[in-house]
Amino acid sequence: LLTGQVEFLKGVVAMDGLPPDDRMEVCFAGRSNVGKSSLINALTGRKALARASNTPGRTQEINYFTVSDSHYLVDLPGYGFANAPVPVVEKWQRLLKQYLSGRATLRRAFVLIDHRHGIKAVDDEIMTVLDKSAVTFQVVLTKEDKVKAKDRPVILEQVRKALSKHPAAYPELIITSSEKGDGIPTLRSIIANLE
Ligand code: GTP
Ligand code: MG
Repeated sequence: LLTGQVEFLKGVVAMDGLPPDDRMEVCFAGRSNVGKSSLINALTGRKALARASNTPGRTQEINYFTVSDSHYLVDLPGYGFANAPVPVVEKWQRLLKQYLSGRATLRRAFVLIDHRHGIKAVDDEIMTVLDKSAVTFQVVLTKEDKVKAKDRPVILEQVRKALSKHPAAYPELIITSSEKGDGIPTLRSIIANLE
């Protein structure tokens, strides 16, 4: 389904620019450079639908994609370090938090965590925003192809432990590599089943 009619709709820079809330949406949140835009490309089978780059802070707007006129995929600007001027970054961070706490049709937030790094303080802060607004969120571990096998169990334990403190967390983790395709079919079916 996600590989069907997917189109870029618009980039949003303020809450009043959001499209009409007439269908459900899922969003992809996470630290700068964690792989949000790459994941959207992998999910939709389109190489360059969402702009991905090695420069943290590539996505600077809330980018809406329509899927077969039935729902929206939302690519968010990253949080944490970004290669952009401070006032600009502060503006997106404000918008990000407003979006995560004020969008009625947001059905699930996927919070991306780099599988090599686990959950950091900034991730925890975003998860708390989601808890407060009662938006169910699910962790997607990214860049699975880059994790050392011996580090995996330790990081998974750290992630599970951190999630247990968040009432809005959906317990099942999704392990992905946008590069290799791991976990992509699973994530597609999770999204399809939300409809
Ligand atoms: P911002 O928009 O800046 O917040 O970043 P983002 O979270 O959208 O990350 P983006 O998708 O732009 O990816 C950042 C970098 O990580 C790029 O160089 C990607 O090629 C790389 N990357 C993303 N996913 C994977 C993956 O699964 N494996 C590997 N090896 N690299 C990945
Ligand atoms: Mg991006």
